[in-house]
Amino acid sequence: MDSNVKKSSNVIWYQASVSRQDREKINGHRGVALWFTGLSGSGKSTLAHAVEKRLHDMNVRTYVLDGDNVRHGLCGDLGFSDVARRENIRRIGEVSKLFVDAGMIVLTAFISPFRSDRRQVRKILGNQFIEIYCDCPLNVCENRDVKGLYKRARAGEVKEFTGISSPYEAPEAADITVNTSMLSLHESTQKIVRYLTEHELINLSK
Ligand code: ADX
Repeated sequence: MDSNVKKSSNVIWYQASVSRQDREKINGHRGVALWFTGLSGSGKSTLAHAVEKRLHDMNVRTYVLDGDNVRHGLCGDLGFSDVARRENIRRIGEVSKLFVDAGMIVLTAFISPFRSDRRQVRKILGNQFIEIYCDCPLNVCENRDVKGLYKRARAGEVKEFTGISSPYEAPEAADITVNTSMLSLHESTQKIVRYLTEHELINLSK
């Protein structure tokens, strides 16, 4: 599967008469993607859902795209090879772009282990892409082992497992780094909501 080969030809972009800016004005907040990246068990999903709840309570239109869930549907045909992961992230990047265009705050929780893939998503989303690194040491994730997958990966039963037999490339300049092994869920959530407020992405006057 080569996602770089464009196969759809003779298609012409239809310019919508309602823009993202129009939708943002009604919503009272910007459309952005909060892109959580980190090892399995680093707290991406937990944090993304906690931030979503906080934002929802503030009347922000939100949606969480979560790796484990999306792999049951949209990306159910993809495994965990480098190529499959790249395609996974490419699809989520494109779906996120649609949510952002809809004026929503989309929160994505995917390992997204490769810098080049995340860079590619930043390229299509521009300033609307906010990279959040859930920084948690491998041994902490492995000790938690919520899904029992690290144990199985060590035993060789799960192949190409991130951090064990497949690489994770940590962000070099994430927009937000959350040290999830040190901060409480509440503190981590606060840090992200504060960032959104300080960068004037939420609480806009309508
Ligand atoms: S990604 O690398 O393509 O971004 P994604 O976030 O969608 O991964 O899926 C990761 C989830 O799939 C993990 O949280 C884990 O529950 C499960 N999983 C199953 N096999 C693997 C594997 N080989 N490597 C990493 N995660 C795996």
